[in-house]
Amino acid sequence: MVLSAADKSNVKGVFAKIGGQAEEYGAETLARMFATYPQTKTYFPHFDMSPGSAQVKGHGKKVAAALVEAVNNIDDIAGALSKLSDLHAQKLRVDPVNFKLLGQCFLVVVAIRNPAALTPEVHASLDKFLCAVGTVLTAKYR
Ligand code: HEM
Repeated sequence: MVLSAADKSNVKGVFAKIGGQAEEYGAETLARMFATYPQTKTYFPHFDMSPGSAQVKGHGKKVAAALVEAVNNIDDIAGALSKLSDLHAQKLRVDPVNFKLLGQCFLVVVAIRNPAALTPEVHASLDKFLCAVGTVLTAKYR
């Protein structure tokens, strides 16, 4: 997934608007993914899944931080997320289809919380970026 200069600028712009709320976006993304696609919960048997769960919030914070890290290193996402790529591919072995589901949920959260930011162009760039992150995190399966 090749991000153009315009895509990179759109992605940076939308994350600048998300700013300090990234953790909340992450938590809402996860809560939405678990509710809408319950099969994704099978990877988290040890998590409390009740509404407002501190574990879901805490994990949302980690996912959001990883996305911010990827944005900050948008020219080398593979390098920035190398350790996470090892973890997801070699230890967690998350089926790659699930990354699309998480990406969809993140887009929906942006649409709800910041509708003005999600122009069709930004939507397309953000979708490409989330695909690029998913590709990196599933690149080391064997
Ligand atoms: C752990 C990021 C997608 C399942 C993690 C961690 C991060 C992360 C930062 C914590 C690593 C650590 O503690 O060292 C991401 C990002 C994703 C993504 C950025 C995509 C944009 C997924 C998906 C699933 C998943 C789609 C499964 C549906 C897990 C599991 C853990 C984990 C099971 C371990 C949780 C625990 O036991 O604490 N991920 N992840 N991840 N991820 Fe992902």
